Amino acid sequence: MASLNSVLLGLFSILFLFSCPSHSKVTTTHPLKGGSTNYTSTAIIGFVFCKSCKFRGYNSNMDASPITGAIVRVTCYYSTRNPVSMAITTGKNGFFYLIWPNVVKFSPKKCRAYLGWSPFSFCKLPIYQNNSISAPIEFNGVRNVTRGLQAVYSAGVLLYGPTSNNTLCHVP
Ligand SMILES: *[C@@H]1O[C@H](CO)[C@@H](O)[C@H](O)[C@H]1NC(C)=O
Ligand SMILES: *[C@@H]1O[C@H](CO)[C@@H](O)[C@H](O)[C@H]1NC(C)=O
Ligand SMILES: *[C@@H]1O[C@H](CO)[C@@H](O)[C@H](O)[C@H]1NC(C)=O
Ligand SMILES: *[C@@H]1O[C@H](CO)[C@@H](O)[C@H](O)[C@H]1NC(C)=O
Repeated sequence: MASLNSVLLGLFSILFLFSCPSHSKVTTTHPLKGGSTNYTSTAIIGFVFCKSCKFRGYNSNMDASPITGAIVRVTCYYSTRNPVSMAITTGKNGFFYLIWPNVVKFSPKKCRAYLGWSPFSFCKLPIYQNNSISAPIEFNGVRNVTRGLQAVYSAGVLLYGPTSNNTLCHVP
């Protein structure tokens, strides 16, 4: 797991520094005391990869390849009767960047990330850790954005696994 974590850290910083809008600067500070009070926006980031398939962007440390065009859903269970969901499609490198509209209400402990859809019929079986059916969302850092401070949370790398018919799994 140590190597996976360092791979992830590397991916996050690379993508954050080079593929995000201007003014992006990742810091590894802890959340502001008192929660999200002073954040002006909230973002949820992460990646979707296909485990043990080798195609464009293959990462040997993770033994997985990034999936562009996958759909991820984030659902926050603020109240059992009224969960709030948003969906986002992964872009280049399997990366997604979701702006969560309600900054004040957002609480990562009440939110989970779900693999919603894979564009690959040969790699569409969700793999979650800890026998779960969803992934947790954790604090990742604070960024200076044009109109204040953005709290960034991460769902990490969400994995699809190949179906038994994975003849297309190793296409470059
Ligand atoms: C939020 O901003 C106000 C005004 O700048 C400051 O006094 C306060 O300490 C900040 N709160 C937190 C939790 O950082
Ligand atoms: C899985 O469980 C371990 C031990 O409780 C925890 O440290 C880890 O963060 C969990 N990972 C995920 C993705 O839930
Ligand atoms: C945001 O920018 C201000 C002013 O440039 C700076 O003092 C502060 O440390 C920055 N915060 C972060 C989280 O980068
Ligand atoms: C497996 O996938 C290949 C390529 O899509 C297809 O030609 C073949 O018919 C599939 N085999 C089975 C048993 O579904």
